[in-house]
Amino acid sequence: MDKNNKNQLLELEKQVNNLESSPLFEFRQEQGYQPVFGEGDPDAEIMFIGEAPGAQEAQTGRPFVGRAGKMLDSFLESVDLDREDVYITNVVKDRPPNNRNPRADEINTYAPFLKQEIAIIQPKIIATLGRFATDFIFDLYKIPAKGQKMGALHGKIFKAENSSGEINILPLYHPAAIFYNRNLQETMLKDFQKFKKIL
Ligand code: URA
Repeated sequence: MDKNNKNQLLELEKQVNNLESSPLFEFRQEQGYQPVFGEGDPDAEIMFIGEAPGAQEAQTGRPFVGRAGKMLDSFLESVDLDREDVYITNVVKDRPPNNRNPRADEINTYAPFLKQEIAIIQPKIIATLGRFATDFIFDLYKIPAKGQKMGALHGKIFKAENSSGEINILPLYHPAAIFYNRNLQETMLKDFQKFKKIL
């Protein structure tokens, strides 16, 4: 493990913990919630990006540990990957009230942290889970397909350049989408096979 990467991530995490300027800081304090920073391998080749923590995540301070997280774990297992092999984070690091969608000001507040996580880890693949992460990453890398529906984007590999060279972007449905449409489970299993193709 790269100690330097780990230390840099720890430093960023501290900044998020103390981010009193966040529009979600007060809600965090009121609810006794924890901020949810990324976790996993600081040298991971695959980075998963979700939307924002849910209740269980905010209670434990860990990403994707609730129902959607169990779903994510099962997809990882389908391609012989473990949570420790990858890095898992979110666009927004604090839980929005009532599970509502994150607002633009909240996304902008946490954007510098996600960008730095990417810069430190330098993953080979960024897998975006759902609309918010996909929009964020397509914006960041100026991918022309931005704005297309997840139905058109999921499971396709988009190539982009960043300071560390070529990066593969793989948009995926958010694991929680499967609770509303069971057919997506098969689709996700198929889309996860793409990791084997890229790595
Ligand atoms: N949904 C997300 O987008 N992120 C989490 O960490 C948990 C659920």
